Amino acid sequence: MQRKEIEKVYIKKIKELTKYDKAYFKHDRPLIFDRDYDILKKEILDLEKKYRYLENKDSPSKKVGYKPSDKFKKVTHDIPMLSLANAFSKENIKDFLKKIRNFLNLKDSEKIAFSVEPKIDGISASLKYIDGIFVLGLSRGDGKTGEDITNNLKTIIDIPKKINKSNFPKTLDVRGEIYISKSDFKKIAKKFANPRNAAGGSLRQKDPNETKKIPLKFVAYGFGIVEPQNFEKQSEYLKLLKTWGFNTNSLNKIVNSIEDIDKNHRTIEALRPTIDYDLDGLVYKVNDLKLQKRLGFVSNSPRWAIAHKFSAEKGFSIIKNIEIQVGRTGALTPVAKIEPVNIGGVVVSNATLHNEDEINRKDIRIGDTACIQRAGDVIPQVLYVDKAKRNKNTKKFNFPDKCPSCGSKTIKEFNYSTKKKDAVTRCPDPKFNCKEILREKLKHFASKDALNIDGFGKKIIQNFWDLNMIKYPADIFNLNFKKISSFEGWGDLSASNLEKAIKKSQKISLDKLIFAIGIRHIGQENAKTLAEYFVSIKKFEELFDREKRKKILNYLLELDGIGETQVNSLETFFLHSANLNAISNLIKELNVTDFKIRKSGIFYGKTIMFTGGLSKMSRAEAKALVAKEGGKILGTASKKLDYLVVGDSKPTPKKVEQAKQLNIKILDENSWYGLLNR
Ligand code: IVH
Repeated sequence: MQRKEIEKVYIKKIKELTKYDKAYFKHDRPLIFDRDYDILKKEILDLEKKYRYLENKDSPSKKVGYKPSDKFKKVTHDIPMLSLANAFSKENIKDFLKKIRNFLNLKDSEKIAFSVEPKIDGISASLKYIDGIFVLGLSRGDGKTGEDITNNLKTIIDIPKKINKSNFPKTLDVRGEIYISKSDFKKIAKKFANPRNAAGGSLRQKDPNETKKIPLKFVAYGFGIVEPQNFEKQSEYLKLLKTWGFNTNSLNKIVNSIEDIDKNHRTIEALRPTIDYDLDGLVYKVNDLKLQKRLGFVSNSPRWAIAHKFSAEKGFSIIKNIEIQVGRTGALTPVAKIEPVNIGGVVVSNATLHNEDEINRKDIRIGDTACIQRAGDVIPQVLYVDKAKRNKNTKKFNFPDKCPSCGSKTIKEFNYSTKKKDAVTRCPDPKFNCKEILREKLKHFASKDALNIDGFGKKIIQNFWDLNMIKYPADIFNLNFKKISSFEGWGDLSASNLEKAIKKSQKISLDKLIFAIGIRHIGQENAKTLAEYFVSIKKFEELFDREKRKKILNYLLELDGIGETQVNSLETFFLHSANLNAISNLIKELNVTDFKIRKSGIFYGKTIMFTGGLSKMSRAEAKALVAKEGGKILGTASKKLDYLVVGDSKPTPKKVEQAKQLNIKILDENSWYGLLNR
């Protein structure tokens, strides 16, 4: 189709949608079924995705979830708002419980109580009270900074504006979920894709009077800053919330065993259709707040809580094609392009097929009728195909042996921990110049946990990439904003907002930069460990020098969490001039701040190694404590080591011997607890 024709089809669809909207909103008289409405909407969005030049002010992409970044003031949360890890099965929950027990080093006889709370699918908000007065309401934002939506939140009846209770803390951040009930949503359903979008959209209205029109509710379940803290258990806090005038969920309860967890999960899942709000699972939190504190966090989620999702919804559709996507790490993922189908309120047109083995095992072919499963925000997947419905002429799918992007011969790596060949087919990208990988790296570079460039999401990056405006990270800082402002769909304001966001991202801490580069096997935790070692960008740049690199990599092996895999990956990465150029050009554009090592704490500036099990805590907890107190963990004994902590249970004699010879200070369990004041 020619561009003109495409535009014609697009405009026609938008006009049709606008007509349905008008009939529904103005005249309260729907003209089509929800399903058909959803499909039409999806077709418009798909066209926009495929033909980036398409844009229209009446497009559904412009109406929901669209937030100009300068609309609300940004405010940093006193305590970050984190997210939760997900569990999809009893096995996942067992793992979660096991990890907690291991971390705390509990005896089999010691039970842990969990607060179970329904996970309402809404928008989280943080409400700050000072002396009982609601003073500041923030959206979650990126977890660190939220948007000041105080005035909009004030229109919500469920949110107390003033609390007159003597036991209400002087300062308290009440956290909870803003949502819309299913019955209220029905009345406004045409305007939004689902209740969650409706809640989010109306919360972000510029005019609080608009927010007021939509019946939003609030349920409280957590806290941020609290002074003084007059409760010791999550369940105690939930009870207090109620006495202070907040709504808490009536289905909250306490459970003590995996059996109870499982039983309760099944009960609530069965009740789900009768409950008047969307819930996508249950949240389990360790009830004892002291234990929560000991457990702490990994990256963005707590060790002490998890979301146990309900089983997914399914639907059937025809596989029109199988496409291969190349990811940032070179993984080739087969994706089934299916006839759009509505699964539990969401129109699905792509479903992952995971990898070659999965396609072969399930014998999936183009033209097949497939059962598709969608669970929460996870990518939909093909569960199986209905072979009875298969056309005789279909052929087995041949997985490509060359990268569809750069033509390199694909590989399957050997996994040293499972001692098996990986199921994932990869583009080895021998020269670090595979186009699709480069593009996906750019998306990673700008993403939330990396440079966090506001308003520079995947869609825009793809768009600029297609226009040959960006190829390497440094290009992002040399964009021509004048030109951008003249693009269709852009204007002076949006271009200048992007410019500001990009400028802001130029100041970045070393750990974020290391993560943002996207070196294989260097995730957020490893990036922090490396940044802790390098501290400054100057030192990091020594990796560019062959001789210095050799020495550094050798030393890195001693760091906890950095193994051969990481060191090999760093070595290959820095061996290539393409990477060296890209990274040094990038560094020129940035103001990289030193990694902030805690300059205090009882282990500040010290290195520690452990051998043998400790009786009162796990190795993981001990390591977390060292990090929190400013110390560094080493994996092998050397002259650089300050302390060797020798646990009572089966220490390695060789390590103790080595430490003695090197004159390293040896701590037994008791002196270790003494140091920690426990
Ligand atoms: S606790 C660190 N409790 O789920 C603890 N979250 O993926 C983080 N949610 O952003 C949150 N009900 O929007 C918590 N009872 C509940 C919840 C809940 C819903 C949402 C919330 C959060 C997301 C976490």
